[in-house]
Amino acid sequence: MAKMKGLVLSGGKGTRLRPITHTSAKQLVPVANKPILFYVMENLADAGIREVGVVVGDTAQEIEAACGDGSAWGLNLTYIRQDAPLGLAHAVKIAEDFIAGDPFVMYLGDNLLPSGITPLVQEFAERKPEAMILLTAVPDPQRFGVAVLTDDGRVQTLEEKPEHPRSDLALVGVYLFTAQIFEAVNAIKPSARGELEITDAIQWLIDQGREVLPHLVKGWWKDTGKLEDMLDANRIVLEGAEAANLGDVDEESNLIGTVVIEEGAVVKRSLIRGPAIIGKGTLVEDAYIGPYTSIYFGCHIRGSEIEHSIVLENSSILDIEGKVADSLIGKDVVVTRTSVRPHAYKLSLGDHSRVEVI
Ligand code: DAU
Repeated sequence: MAKMKGLVLSGGKGTRLRPITHTSAKQLVPVANKPILFYVMENLADAGIREVGVVVGDTAQEIEAACGDGSAWGLNLTYIRQDAPLGLAHAVKIAEDFIAGDPFVMYLGDNLLPSGITPLVQEFAERKPEAMILLTAVPDPQRFGVAVLTDDGRVQTLEEKPEHPRSDLALVGVYLFTAQIFEAVNAIKPSARGELEITDAIQWLIDQGREVLPHLVKGWWKDTGKLEDMLDANRIVLEGAEAANLGDVDEESNLIGTVVIEEGAVVKRSLIRGPAIIGKGTLVEDAYIGPYTSIYFGCHIRGSEIEHSIVLENSSILDIEGKVADSLIGKDVVVTRTSVRPHAYKLSLGDHSRVEVI
């Protein structure tokens, strides 16, 4: 089989992830202090893939600034501009020249598959189907592409976000294709929501009698913009982390369990109970950082307690009396105590923010 290429979809509407209204490309939201898209690049590199096309839209600049030429992962990245988010199958269509007849893995840039894709790439090379799709059972299949399998485990039908799902098997955002998929994306018409659907293209292959293999996976996560989902993904990834101390932790501090201290981070008179990660150049003083917490770079946590939370770059949590938990805090946010009257909650919150007070 010819060498496999990668196709990463990082375009889309530039929709802002709720509730972090200032966060831009959703593929760059950090999980355990690393943008989701970087896990995608790592997965592709680990599977032995070198040539990767990256489909970009409104947020092209930001994505290119973050990923560069791909050499950080030993990849060779080619950016492919999509003028409008006309569907996943449209993204495939505009990548035809880049793919140039080779088999490829299409990876949606907002999907996280902690177990990686290496075994899938091997299975695809050995069994040589026309396409392979990844499926996982979910409680809310109407939010995804949904597959129905036959009794002997073949793919029978695929439907995009059906109102009344006929199974609980959702399509995970990783697909393996041979160049036959170009016949399919060129044959189908846009759906009712005006997009060229990859589910329709794969259904076209099935209807033509081409072999489409299903593969069941566990541990998948997809960014949905929901706080609980982000905290969940953060927890899963932190659980697999390895302790490291590249910063400066004073003798009065105590690190318990798996704690990652990134370069230039400073920890003074604090207790950190892992799994937790403290980002580059962040200062933690007189504080408690509890399990499942990711503090990104350039933050300042002082005289406060925080656990099971994500804090994005350059934010400060200063002298807060109660514990901060189950929270997602955006970029450049300041949470502090007031000493001036009135002694009240003084809030300056972005759109879709949610605050729970005791
Ligand atoms: O995550 C799995 C789901 O992804 C599947 O279950 C669905 O069958 C599949 O259609 C897709 O659903 P979404 O509606 O959630 O896809 P979304 O619009 O979020 O796009 C997924 C990624 O692809 C995202 O990183 C943006 C990018 N994209 C999307 C479109 C529509 C593009 O680059 N170009 C596009 O035209």
